[in-house]
Amino acid sequence: MYPDRVVSGMRPTGALHLGHYHGALKNWIKLQSELPCLFFVADWHALTTHYDDPGSIEANTWDMVIDWLAAGVDPSQATLFIQSKVPEHAELHLLLSMSTPLGWLERVPTYKDQQEKLADRDLATYGFLGYPLLQAADVLIYRASMVPVGDDQVPHVEMMREIARRFNHLYGREKGFEEKAHDAVKKLGGKNAKIYNELRTQFQEQGKAEALVQAKAMLDSAQSLSTADRERLFGYLEGGRKRILVEPRALLTEASRLPGLDGQKMSKSYGNAIALREDKESVIKKVRTMPTDPARVRRTDPGDPEKCPVWELHKIYSDESTKSWVVKGCKSAGIGCLECKQPVIDAILKEQEPMRERAQQYLDDPSLVRAIVADGCDKARKLAQETMRDVRSEMGLSYS
Ligand code: TRP
Ligand code: SF4
Repeated sequence: MYPDRVVSGMRPTGALHLGHYHGALKNWIKLQSELPCLFFVADWHALTTHYDDPGSIEANTWDMVIDWLAAGVDPSQATLFIQSKVPEHAELHLLLSMSTPLGWLERVPTYKDQQEKLADRDLATYGFLGYPLLQAADVLIYRASMVPVGDDQVPHVEMMREIARRFNHLYGREKGFEEKAHDAVKKLGGKNAKIYNELRTQFQEQGKAEALVQAKAMLDSAQSLSTADRERLFGYLEGGRKRILVEPRALLTEASRLPGLDGQKMSKSYGNAIALREDKESVIKKVRTMPTDPARVRRTDPGDPEKCPVWELHKIYSDESTKSWVVKGCKSAGIGCLECKQPVIDAILKEQEPMRERAQQYLDDPSLVRAIVADGCDKARKLAQETMRDVRSEMGLSYS
């Protein structure tokens, strides 16, 4: 069994905002202490849509990595790297492209959606069609078991699973597989061998999913097997193939609960965002000028928090007593809107304080960031090279 591993990437869109923090980074930070994690800058993915404007990718990459570090992504726990610095991603993408049906790519929902949304760009390109396949290579090359993504990306992870399955089906067909699998079953020992065979029959003949789960758990804990034999037995359970690539599953990150200054989804392009490391004066000004319940024209007009985007921020940043102060004060016109906004301002500044601090050392000495990323690239590359050795060998491209 390959070890559990988490892989996720972000396109280098420049400075991140608090929506990214509440939507994705907080989750990364939780995961990094639980499992081995690889987090990377998807710079090639940025080119799929902005191939005519590559000039800002590099600066955006460093800004984004500083934001990750500022938010608390910890390079002593997680591996941070840049996609294009691990060219094995491109090699796997190419090899996978040989057997990927065009229809799979064309029916990924983001394909048409994005073409419509970014109508000012010509996205009738080979690279853009291949976006989710490159993403599949990003993940499969680390034999990752989990991919934390937002709900828009779930179809991409589904496709990764299909790609891995197809690859194993096409190339996991070793000579003498059946005999090797039978020998491996024997190595499980009499009792376990019998259980394995029974569970396999239950799954294959009656489609019992539970039997598959049990058999996999047993293989996981079987000490007597080599990795190759274990992978054979995993493959033998589900069909007659060796498992070369691993099917990952999506870890659904809840959409950020943090709305933008106007109550819409927070997004740089909507102009309603607060940057992760926005300066204090600007945070204060942005919140102070936020729209409120339009019914509160004058200070003496009562309002309704449910009609006010400031209330949405209180829901995230304020404790119960502050929230009831808001509801009461708003409905009775007992407090003014500026007064109401102050606890939100204080909470955002407090949340950003450690981020600004952590970022400062990297801004003072950019070589620290370069070193972290160089180290991450080395680590990622070693893992990627291991997988590619297997992939080439199974495809008959070893030339040894
Ligand atoms: N497509 C992802 C996004 O837009 C970024 C990405 C690229 C990614 N490769 C990945 C995410 C691999 C997870 C795993 O958010
Ligand atoms: Fe919004 Fe607060 Fe003003 Fe009510 S008092 S409208 S919740 S800002």
